[in-house]
Amino acid sequence: MPSRSPLGILVPLAEEAEALFALMQQDGATKTRRIGGRDYHSGHLFGRACVLTLSRVGKVAAATAAAGLIHEFEVGGILNVGVAGGAAASVKVGDIVVGETLLQHDLDARPIFPRYEVPLTGMSRFAADATLSASLSEAVLAFLAEDLPMLPTEIRDQFALAAPRLHQGLIISGDQFVNGHDAVAALRHDIPDAMAIEMESGAIGQVCHDYDVPCAVLRIISDSADDNAHVDFPAFLRAVASYYSHHILRRFLESSDWSL
Ligand code: ADE
Repeated sequence: MPSRSPLGILVPLAEEAEALFALMQQDGATKTRRIGGRDYHSGHLFGRACVLTLSRVGKVAAATAAAGLIHEFEVGGILNVGVAGGAAASVKVGDIVVGETLLQHDLDARPIFPRYEVPLTGMSRFAADATLSASLSEAVLAFLAEDLPMLPTEIRDQFALAAPRLHQGLIISGDQFVNGHDAVAALRHDIPDAMAIEMESGAIGQVCHDYDVPCAVLRIISDSADDNAHVDFPAFLRAVASYYSHHILRRFLESSDWSL
C-alpha cells in the first residue's frame, strides 16, 4: 500500500547511517533543505518516501529535529536510528534493541513531580508505535539471519560479535554519555528494566506523543556503558553500525506490513 506521508528518519551521527546518507545523496531526485542548522534530505529510500536528517547528539537536538520533520515535512511517522550502550547484562555489543517504551533517565523535578515524569503530562514512559516496531523487529530478525553472516569475519572478530540478538523493551535517554561502571550500575539499580542507554529517543518519544505522530526506535549496541564504553566507538560506527542500519532499514522500508 503506498504511503500517504513520508517517513522521517532521524539519525544523531552521520557515521551511524553513512550508507543511507550516501544512497539518498546519490539520488538526483533528493531535495535538501537546511532548517535550523540541519539538512533534511527528502526523497525515496528503497521505494519509500522518506526525509532523512542528522539531528546531532542529545535530547534538545533530537527534539528540534523531530519537530522540524513534523512541522516542515509533515512526516507521518519518525524512525530513530543509532547506537546505544547496553543497560541490561543480557544486552551485548552487536545486539539490537527495538524500543517499546522510552524514558528520560535524567529528568528529575522532585519533589514537585515524581522522578522521570515529564512535568504536567503525568507521563514518564512514552510508547513506540506497535505496528512500526513489529515491522522493525521482523526486519531485524531477517537481517540477523541473512545479512549479518555477510559482514567480514575480521570485523565480527574485532568487535567480538558472537551471536547478536534482538531485544525489545525500554530504552532510556539522557544528556550524558554513560562511561563508567558506577554510573551504569546506578542506572541499572534505579531502572531495572532498561535495555539500552542513549541520548535522544526519550525526547523524540515525547515530541511524537505531543503531536500524535507514531515513532519507532532502532538501536545497535556499541558498548556496555561501562569503563570501556569509549573504546573503538568511532570504528564501531563506521564498520558495524552503518552496515546494520543500511540493511535493517532496507528490509523495513521494503516491507508492506506498515503504512503511514
Ligand atoms: N550511545 C552509545 N553508547 C552510549 C553510552 N554509553 N551512553 C550514552 N549514549 C550512548
